[in-house]
Amino acid sequence: MSTTLINVAYLVASVLFILGLKGLTHPRSAVRGNLLGAAGMAVATVVTLFDPQISDDLTLVFAGLAVGTVIGALLAVRIEMTAMPQLVALFNGFGGIASVLVAGGALYVAMGAGSGVLPDAVRDALPQAATTQLLVATVASGLIGAVTFTGSLVAFAKLQEFRFMRKVNGFPGGQVVNAILFVASIGVSAVITMDPTQLEMYWVLVAIASVLGVLLVIPIGGADMPVVIALLNSYSGLAASATGFVLQNNVLIIAGSLVGASGLILTQIMCKAMNRSLTNVLFGKLEAGGGASADEVYAGKVKSTSAEEVAMLFDTAQRVVVVPGYGLAVAQAQHAVRDMTRILTDRGVTVEFGIHPVAGRMPGHMNVLLAEADIPYESLLEMDIINPTFEQVDVTLVIGANDVVNPVARTDPESPIAGMPILDVDKSRTVVVVKRSLSPGFAGIPNPLFAADNTLMLFGDGKKALIELNQALKEG
Ligand code: TAP
Repeated sequence: MSTTLINVAYLVASVLFILGLKGLTHPRSAVRGNLLGAAGMAVATVVTLFDPQISDDLTLVFAGLAVGTVIGALLAVRIEMTAMPQLVALFNGFGGIASVLVAGGALYVAMGAGSGVLPDAVRDALPQAATTQLLVATVASGLIGAVTFTGSLVAFAKLQEFRFMRKVNGFPGGQVVNAILFVASIGVSAVITMDPTQLEMYWVLVAIASVLGVLLVIPIGGADMPVVIALLNSYSGLAASATGFVLQNNVLIIAGSLVGASGLILTQIMCKAMNRSLTNVLFGKLEAGGGASADEVYAGKVKSTSAEEVAMLFDTAQRVVVVPGYGLAVAQAQHAVRDMTRILTDRGVTVEFGIHPVAGRMPGHMNVLLAEADIPYESLLEMDIINPTFEQVDVTLVIGANDVVNPVARTDPESPIAGMPILDVDKSRTVVVVKRSLSPGFAGIPNPLFAADNTLMLFGDGKKALIELNQALKEG
């Protein structure tokens, strides 16, 4: 296939990516957007196989494709919705390490060291001369890719809540070490660019950047993980884009830039949702400890209730707000919530949903779950819209949400979620919280809402509690 034809196909793929991203901006068009993006990727992948740069021997390519397809299909079928962020973290990391390896391979070939190190099929696909563009792009791929890889593995371990990660935190002076590592990595990059014959320096760069990736992400925790995932996603795009310059592959440059830019925009949206600046998330204080203990917050103050009592509360309510959180996703209670909404709406009660931008474990998590249960988009209200109206709400039903309704964000400047805007559910007349125990949420801190005078705790699994509540509503 001629280079012109290939580039025209790449342009078509790029347009499909952009239309796909546009589609993803609204739940109604999201499925179409996803399909358009996937179609763009299919066009880009197939056309690349006809690139004259690619060796005629496609055995390795198809072997990789087969292994990747099997792993991808298995993951897609098996992964729980609640484990999506971890999966995204791993994908980001794999993107980073792929950039590191491809750029490293390109450097070896450009320096004439490809034979014996790389298989022929791979070597033939890479540029054959060390131009300045290739060298700068190579060190950028190595540096950003390695930070993305190890940073994403740490993010994965944190999100997966591995026991050993609980004890691992940043250390005093960590930022100075990071600054030294960053300067060192720039120095090594300069050495490689000026004298690419010292091929081992590339791996020195990758090693320094790998340590930097670990140290950058380790101190971040509490409620800030969504920001980090979005940022690492952006890094993986930038690394891919740099690799596009290494390979002189236009669609990789464009796709990488789109991921880089959209990741940065998402990072900014997340920061705004948490009322934090990016520098504060990345270089802010170490995770705050202290604060009131669970005993101090809860002892003797928590009132539990039953499904029958909550059904009676609803009998006199005119306006009910449901606040979903991570626990709703774990319990898969969305269909039971829809049934409750229908029962109440049929009785003339206004039912709305208060959606916090970082509720759950991924952007838009709650919107996706509720849409799956056919809850109309119009009844999902964003935090800014619903917050001023909580004083006029008769009953707020919090289902499996914790951090996003924790009033200490407003009151305790030392708290790990200090300054994060929350849904002001405590201002409504009565709050009913559905969860299994008094365990903390993602940020690991007690929640005084559960001990407030106007709060009743309905202890139990979200789905089971909602089914019982629906039963009580029907019998009442
Ligand atoms: P969390 O604060 O994590 O609280 C979830 C609560 O759900 C837990 O306290 C848990 O209490 C309860 N729960 C778990 N399983 C349940 C079940 N089967 N039935 C009923 N309840 C159950 O959730 P949130 O309020 O949605 O806040 C999200 C947090 O995650 C924030 O800190 C946010 O920063 C962070 N985060 C968000 C994202 C994105 S992008 N959304 C990504 C990563 C992290 P019990 O164990 O007592 O039931």
